[in-house]
Amino acid sequence: MNLSVIGIGYVGLVTGACFAKLGHHVTCVDIDKEKIQMINNGVSPIFEEGLDSLLLTYKEKIEATTDYSVALQKSNITFLCVGTPSLKNGNIDLSFIEESTKQIAAGLKNKNNYHLVVVKSTVLPGTTERIILPLLEQYSDKKVGIDIGLAMNPEFLKEGVAIKDFLEPDRIVIGTYDEKSKRTLREFYQNFSCPLVETSLSAAEMIKYASNTFLATKISFINEIGNLCKKLDIDTYDVATGMGLDRRIGRPFLDSGIGWGGSCFPKDVDALIAWAKENKEDTRIIKSIRDVNSDQPLKLIEMLKKHIPKLKGKTIGILGLAFKPNTDDIRESRTIPIIQELLKNGAHIKAYDPQAMTKFQQLYLQIEYCSKASDVLNADAILITTKWKEFTTLDYHGKIVIDGRRINEAKTAKIYEGVCW
Ligand SMILES: NC(=O)c1ccc[n+]([C@@H]2O[C@H](COP(=O)([O-])OP(=O)(O)OC[C@H]3O[C@@H](n4cnc5c(N)ncnc54)[C@H](O)[C@@H]3O)[C@@H](O)[C@H]2O)c1
Repeated sequence: MNLSVIGIGYVGLVTGACFAKLGHHVTCVDIDKEKIQMINNGVSPIFEEGLDSLLLTYKEKIEATTDYSVALQKSNITFLCVGTPSLKNGNIDLSFIEESTKQIAAGLKNKNNYHLVVVKSTVLPGTTERIILPLLEQYSDKKVGIDIGLAMNPEFLKEGVAIKDFLEPDRIVIGTYDEKSKRTLREFYQNFSCPLVETSLSAAEMIKYASNTFLATKISFINEIGNLCKKLDIDTYDVATGMGLDRRIGRPFLDSGIGWGGSCFPKDVDALIAWAKENKEDTRIIKSIRDVNSDQPLKLIEMLKKHIPKLKGKTIGILGLAFKPNTDDIRESRTIPIIQELLKNGAHIKAYDPQAMTKFQQLYLQIEYCSKASDVLNADAILITTKWKEFTTLDYHGKIVIDGRRINEAKTAKIYEGVCW
């Protein structure tokens, strides 16, 4: 198949590279010229395990351009993967969706054959039908359901293991507007062995929000249990193991720590709360998981102050800036509120992250960035904020370590405190 992917961020690039691996020809479109050039040179603009090698191996099958009309002429299916960030008030920002949809529609205006548009970006229920569909019709002068197919196919990949998640998903959800779109996507995904869930457009949109919010709930829940366990000297990880073996509960997403961040959970939870409010529905559980999550990183500072009550002038080492290991993504990283609090208290910060320092430097210049993890250890206390594997090999003897991510090897420290275990 000839495909186009619009918006070459974490999702778009993984989508494009994986579809190329599966034998399709993929034309990628982005407004960022630098990204386009890098992809055309077979280099990934983001760090994601295995992505560089996919881009190089399937170089002949992937091309990138800023020109929508070229991409649309060359393809029969377009996957829309632009960002859907939060506005300041927590509502979803649909400006990238709207702009790219207009451009797709304009590109389809001069096309004679059927074209399927598949929304992969996370959008609130109703968006595909009430916002994307009318824009497609208005700017293409064509009819959705006849000349243009429309589907919503949310993406569930996790950064860090995105390629594996994409190629071996637990399920594929396809919400479709019309029968032809359903048949086309059913056939397109026929070689995947996982269940294919066929729904309406808005159910597909809701499945994505409900899934992300549920996973965030699991983490906030175990963190709340963890805070209590800490007071009672109970190992929360033993509790998680005991709970997780119950198949109704499951062990994933029960790792207590300093909370959830990243480009998805925070903005999706905020958008769901704001959307529910607009629909005059209260979301008491969802609002409380957000509150637990805002307080959780500051627990690390609370623990630190038990050992160093006055942080002014002290050097604090930070291990980990990315929102989780194996990515360079720092969006909503839980390290950010920790660093803000340390700076507010007048501490000097030494930090290291294997992948995320360049991005972090754009936010905080007043931090000392170390070229290797072991340099961070030369500090009054060390905070572990991202669970990178290389932090398991450091020599923590004689140090004060406050661990926000459960690195067991750090328990050799002179003083070791887990944030909620
Ligand atoms: N990152 C994840 O782990 C993840 C997982 C599942 C779903 N999602 C969802 O997928 C969507 C994309 O997320 P992301 O993390 O890949 O975003 P991103 O910010 O990394 O990438 C978005 C890309 O879209 C490009 N773009 C913006 N406007 C454009 C336009 N008019 N035309 C073409 N390109 C344009 C940007 O330049 C950028 O490269 C979001 O809705 C997100 O919620 C993300």
